[in-house]
Amino acid sequence: MSAAPVVAGKYPKRNNNCMADIILGIESSCDDTSAAVIKDGYLLSNVLASQDVHKAYGGVIPELASRAHQVNIVPVVSEAITRAGISPEDITAIAFTRGPGLLGSLLVGTSFAKGLAMSLGKPLVEVNHLQGHILANFIKQYDGDNRQPEFPYLCLLVSGGNSQIVRVDSPLEYEILGQTIDDAVGEAFDKCSKMMGLGYPGGPVVDRLAKEGDPLKYKFSKPHIPGLDYSFSGIKTSLLYFVRDQMAIDPEFMEKNKADICASFQKALIDILMDKLIKAAKQTGIKQITIGGGVSANSGLRARIEEEGRKRGWTTFLPEFKFTTDNAAMIAIAGWFHYMNGERASLDVAPVSRLAEF
Ligand code: KG4
Repeated sequence: MSAAPVVAGKYPKRNNNCMADIILGIESSCDDTSAAVIKDGYLLSNVLASQDVHKAYGGVIPELASRAHQVNIVPVVSEAITRAGISPEDITAIAFTRGPGLLGSLLVGTSFAKGLAMSLGKPLVEVNHLQGHILANFIKQYDGDNRQPEFPYLCLLVSGGNSQIVRVDSPLEYEILGQTIDDAVGEAFDKCSKMMGLGYPGGPVVDRLAKEGDPLKYKFSKPHIPGLDYSFSGIKTSLLYFVRDQMAIDPEFMEKNKADICASFQKALIDILMDKLIKAAKQTGIKQITIGGGVSANSGLRARIEEEGRKRGWTTFLPEFKFTTDNAAMIAIAGWFHYMNGERASLDVAPVSRLAEF
């Protein structure tokens, strides 16, 4: 995940002449269809259609996701263009998520972006979905919105598919310092919720219940993984065995202690995330700290980062909730950096499902 820096260490200045860069971003990597328009880094619109169809299955069904993207993509893109107050001809470039994600879902966004680029005669820019999360803090929402991290910064990237600590040296230069060797932290939240019959996606429900529970009531042992890598499969299994053993004694255990289980399990996950983030900050000497990805919406994690930040002299950046989960605004901003770096995707570009394929 690295390329030549476009504006190393700096956010580009707003273009005050009439030749502004207007980027249409398209995101369809999982179960949200989203389109957004940014003009020289300022957000003009961000439209999102979520897919409730998966709730009944307790997880995303890839085939249903692709079909829903097919239905949503035209109205979502049209709405983003309308709300931005522009016409399609005003678009400078079209940025789309090339991966990682569900291949069928990515194919819908990629094919649509290619078709639109061809019909409008506009350049196409491919974006790595994870870069979008890493750069979400650069989306400007109003004049004078200047609160952005300085380079280098550390990003704790936590979602349903990834758990990484990334060193960011410029908008397009990254180094993964540590990552999960098995499950992502979002999967641990989702499995916890599924095990307890709380529904999907699990993170928001566990987060909500955790607020009412005692985080110190139950202990879950931490994995011992060297360096800055993570592991979340063991703790998932400990929760399973713990609940199973307690239910054998009292069949009502889970129902009676839902909030305490969620609070204790969430605390254990946050402790694991924070231990390595603190270690990474110490090792690199970097004090600019950001978070990104779906799990960065977690209220416990956000509070903990701010608390550690105050103690350790970090400057912390927490993206607004609407930019934590999948959204096209982050794809548009990342696409803008790539566009300014002179990068263009060819019309025969194909989506990729795995990070390793980039
Ligand atoms: O980034 P994202 O929307 O999709 C990808 O994985 O790419 O992340 C989804 C993950 C799910 O595992 C979901 O349970 C988790 O983010 N999540 C949360 C919260 N909101 C969403 N996890 C913990 N607390 C939350 N409030």
